[in-house]
Amino acid sequence: MTEVAGQVLIDAARTAAANAHAPYSNFAVGAAVLLTDGSIVPGTNFENASYGLSLCAETVALAAVNMAGRLRDVVAIGIVGGMIRGDRIEGTAPIRPCGRCRQVLNEAAQVGRRDVLVYCGSATGDEIERHDLSDLIPYAFGPRDLGVVV
Ligand code: THU
Repeated sequence: MTEVAGQVLIDAARTAAANAHAPYSNFAVGAAVLLTDGSIVPGTNFENASYGLSLCAETVALAAVNMAGRLRDVVAIGIVGGMIRGDRIEGTAPIRPCGRCRQVLNEAAQVGRRDVLVYCGSATGDEIERHDLSDLIPYAFGPRDLGVVV
């Protein structure tokens, strides 16, 4: 995977973050999932008044991928986040997926039988981290343990 692909995913995640519904945390997150055919599926965080039942951007994007019947085809994901200030999203430090999102990503990785690349970026900064999902969630419990993937 080229770094060009990483930048494309970060750009798509930034576009998605603009649609965040995050009036409680004021932290907008965007995600963009790359599939085997080159298509990109976006997601953004979707908070609600219960706070605790909020949906993360990565999970929203992966649910859309699954709904399209493409869960086995996930190659990579780009993630960005930053504080909402007026009509801008600000932040230069790359953000990494939360623990729950790592578990959800692992579902896609195991059913697709490939490690997923995770590009972590920020709202406005240039730095992009590139991780293998298996490094972010080592020794993961997953569908393989339940015999769903053999
Ligand atoms: N959030 C995500 O969307 N993805 C993550 O991986 C980390 C956190 C969201 C949840 C909440 O809406 C806001 O960021 C602040 O935690």
